[in-house]
Order: sequence, then C-alpha cells, then structure tokens
Amino acid sequence: MNRRENHAPQGETTWIVIEFLEVAITAIVFLKGVYPSGAFERRRYLNMVVQRARHPQLRYYIHAAVSGLAPYLGQGMVERVAVVFFSADNVPLEKFVFKLAMNQSYDSKVEQMDLESSLRSFLVKLSVSNSLTKDLPQDIRWEITGYFKSLPTGGTNKEAELWIPTDTELWQQPPLITPIRSMSSESLCLQLYLEHPSL
Ligand SMILES: *[C@@H]1O[C@H](CO)[C@@H](O)[C@H](O)[C@H]1NC(C)=O
Repeated sequence: MNRRENHAPQGETTWIVIEFLEVAITAIVFLKGVYPSGAFERRRYLNMVVQRARHPQLRYYIHAAVSGLAPYLGQGMVERVAVVFFSADNVPLEKFVFKLAMNQSYDSKVEQMDLESSLRSFLVKLSVSNSLTKDLPQDIRWEITGYFKSLPTGGTNKEAELWIPTDTELWQQPPLITPIRSMSSESLCLQLYLEHPSL
C-alpha cells in the first residue's frame, strides 16, 4: 500500500477490518473445536479477551490469508470472506460467511471507536454462539475462502499471492442461513451469517 492509500478512509477501515477478521476467524475455529484448546492462547483485543492461535503455522495461515485480502478489500473487490468446514471426504458441512461492503465514496474520517465497538459486538455474539452450530465430526478440515467481485490480476504482495482461484461448488441445494450479527455504517456494512445444508 502506498502512503496515500494508507491515509484514505478506505485504508483505515481496511486495516481495522483485517485485524477484526483475523480475530473473528480464530474465534470461529476455536468455537468449532477443530484443535485442542491448548492450541490457543488468550490475548486482549478491543478490550475483551479473545483467542489467538499458539501454533505458528495456524497463526500464519489465518494472518497471511486475511492480510492478503487488504489490497482487494480497500478497492471494494471482496464481497465475502468465508470460513468453510469440510468432512474428511470433502463435503462442506458449515460455512461462516462475512459479507462486506466498504463504501468507496466515503471520504470523512473514520470513527474508529464506533467502528470498533460495532465489530466487538460480533465477537461477543460469536463467543456465545455454541448453540448455533452443530457439533462437527472429528476429522474435519477447514479453509478460508474469499469471494471476489472481479478476479484480481497479479499479486501485489507475498500474502496476496496466497489467494488462488477455486471453482468449488459448495452446496448442492440452497443452504439454510442463520444470521449471527450485522452492522451498517456509512463507511462499512458487514454481515456475519452461518450457512449449512438444508437437510
Ligand atoms: C458512502 O459515503 C458517502 C460519503 O460520505 C455518503 O454520502 C453515503 O451515504 C455513503 N453510502 C452509504 C451506503 O452509507
């Protein structure tokens, strides 16, 4: 990112959202019990206790995937970011979806405190969402998937190059959708919902 972008409201919002997504995705993986709880450590974020992956590879995957979105997010190219859980035979079981719309014409100063307190409410909701999600089988795998409005051309940094195209069709039938939390402000609209098979 160059200096100018860094100082544009979209740049500011982007980095707040990136940091939030990193924490929120970790919270989801923690919530689903994919790894033993010892794989996480507690830290503070937005004045609340959250989890952070202790395992370097896990932490790097989440961090790199999310930071790699930054250039695209700032340009409004990213529509959704999902955490998808698959069974051992690659059948999607659940999908946590962050649907994002960053206001490209927003030109005022971002009210960071307001934005962060809205984002914080997503984490609070997630931390009490156990009942929302069914128990997953033992050997599942998961991944972070981004949905782009247009295909990015060429990576602009090392992390951006981690994003590779995929044409995975996720659901055989329209999924059931459970809203978890949403916010809407002039600079950013964000929804978090859960998709699962309609069985
Ligand atoms: C986007 O930002 C502009 C300029 O601040 C504002 O006038 C407009 O209402 C915003 N759009 C939305 C959808 O909030």
